[in-house]
Amino acid sequence: MRKIYLFDTTLRDGEQSPGVNLNTQEKVEIALQLEKLGIDRIEAGFPAASPGDLAGVNAVARAVKNATIIGLARSREKDIDAVWEAVKDAQDPCLHVFIATSPIHRKHKLRMEKHQVLEAAEAAIKYAKKYFSKIEFSAEDAGRTELDFLCEVTELAIRTGATVVNIPDTVGYMTPLEYGNIFKTLKENVPGIEKIQLSAHCHDDLGLATANALAAIANGADQIEGTINGIGERAGNTSLEEVAMALETRKELFQAKTTITYGEIYRTSRLVSKLTGMVVPGNKAIVGANAFAHESGIHQDGMLKEKTTYEIMSPEMIGVKESKLVLGKHSGRHAFREKLSDLGYELSEEQVNTAFGKFKELADKKKDVSDEDLMALIEEKLITT
Ligand code: KIV
Ligand code: ZN
Repeated sequence: MRKIYLFDTTLRDGEQSPGVNLNTQEKVEIALQLEKLGIDRIEAGFPAASPGDLAGVNAVARAVKNATIIGLARSREKDIDAVWEAVKDAQDPCLHVFIATSPIHRKHKLRMEKHQVLEAAEAAIKYAKKYFSKIEFSAEDAGRTELDFLCEVTELAIRTGATVVNIPDTVGYMTPLEYGNIFKTLKENVPGIEKIQLSAHCHDDLGLATANALAAIANGADQIEGTINGIGERAGNTSLEEVAMALETRKELFQAKTTITYGEIYRTSRLVSKLTGMVVPGNKAIVGANAFAHESGIHQDGMLKEKTTYEIMSPEMIGVKESKLVLGKHSGRHAFREKLSDLGYELSEEQVNTAFGKFKELADKKKDVSDEDLMALIEEKLITT
C-alpha cells in the first residue's frame, strides 16, 4: 500500500472561513489534537498576515513534536522571512510558498506575464533555501492554468529546489476527470518529477473537493491537503476525514492509505467545530450527527439484523460510541420494540401494538420522537390500559 501524506490546513485555509478567528491558545489546542490524530504536516498559518498569526504559528511550532510545521508565504522575501521567524523552533520546519499561474490571475491580479511569474517563483524558492531544506511550492489556481505552462512552472520549481509541488484547484472549478488528468500529465511529462512529492489541494465550490482529491490519488498524488470538517474559504476545502475513510473503506480500489489514528477523527471534528464556531451539518459525511443514524423502518430492521446492511464503516472506528436508531414517522415495529426494551419496558405484544399506534400518531406531528416522549407515551398507556 502506498502511503498518502496528509497536510492539514485547518489553521490556515480553514481559518480563512468567514467569521473564524483562532487565538494562539486555540491554535495550539487544535494542533496538539491534529498531532494525536497522526496528521503528517500541519500548516499553522500565514505569518506575514499579522503579528498575532506569526505568534500563533510560532507557538504551534514549539508545542508540536511529531508533525512537520508549515507556514504560508507569497513569493516575497518579507513573507518568507516571517515564516522562518515563526517556524524555526519546530522539530521539522517547512515553507509553503506560492504564486498564481492561471491566465485570469496573471492578467487581473498579478498583472504579470508568464516569464515574470517564472522569475518570481524561481527567486522566491532560491531565497527560501537560505533557511529551509523543505520547501513546498504551489501554483495557485493551477486548475485553470494552461497545462503546458503548469508543466513549465513545475519543472522550474523542481529544478530550483522545491521538495513538494502542490496543484491547487483554488476556486473548486475542476471535475475529477480533469483534475486527475493534470496529475497524470505532470507525472508523464515533467523531468525530475520522481524526485519530489506531488500534492493536491481542492476547494469545494462544486461539492467535488473530496472526489477531486481521490482522482489525484488515483493519478499519482503523494499528498492531500485539506481541513477537518472541510472548513475553509467559501464552500471550504477537502475534508481530510473523508479522504482518510474513503481510502480505508475502499482500500482494494486505491491501494493507498493514510497513517492517521481513525479513533481520533470524531474528537478532532468536535474540537474544531467548538473552537471555530463552525457547526458541522447533520448530514456531513463521517462526522455529521446523522452519519450513523437510521430512521426508516426498513433500514432500522436491516441494522438490527446485521449492521453492514446499511453501514459501510463502523462508528466505533472513528471514535463515535455507536450507531443511532432514531424514532420518527418512518420507523418500524422492530426498532420500536428494541427501543422500549432499551428503556427498560417489558410489554406484552398487545401493549406494544397499542403503544406503536400511539407512537405513529405522535411521530406524524413531531420531527423525531425522543426517549422522554416515548416514556411519557408508555407511562400514560400503562396507566390507562
Ligand atoms: O487554494 C489555494 O490556492 C491556496 C494556496 C495558497 C495553496 O490555498
Ligand atoms: Zn486553498
